[in-house]
Amino acid sequence: MALRKILTVEEPGLHKVSRPVTKFDKKLHELLDDMAQTLVDANGVGLAAPQVGILRRVVIIDTGEELVELINPEIVETSGEQDGMEGCLSVPGEYWLVKRPNYAKARAQDRHGEWFELEGEGLIARCICHECDHLDGHIYTEIAYRKLTDEEIEAMHSGLEEA
Ligand code: NI
Repeated sequence: MALRKILTVEEPGLHKVSRPVTKFDKKLHELLDDMAQTLVDANGVGLAAPQVGILRRVVIIDTGEELVELINPEIVETSGEQDGMEGCLSVPGEYWLVKRPNYAKARAQDRHGEWFELEGEGLIARCICHECDHLDGHIYTEIAYRKLTDEEIEAMHSGLEEA
């Protein structure tokens, strides 16, 4: 396993549509393992392959329970609405307010090509939407409606340290 460099929003590749995965081979497994290590190292909750310079439809999500690998994910159902803060490893240091569905269900393949479904509310739904947007070349700030101020971020961090 190896750490991969996380690209930032200036990179043209982050604004391109990623291609589907067709080979569920060793190279894909290496990418997934590297992405997992990179996500842990960055202390993030989700990572999409274009963020490490690979324009393939590959996403990993880890909201604290277990790491889920989604290959060729498609959002098949959403409902409700949540309004809250979001960040992105490719937009370091910034947090914006974004409205998202409160529930999302995705259909995806695992690393061996088997189809499965991932569904969830709250953070999981937010992550599914955020990461799938990356695969279509979209960054969350495009749909965010307000950037948090330095004071708000400061207050948030001190709150987290107390927890
Ligand atoms: Ni992101």
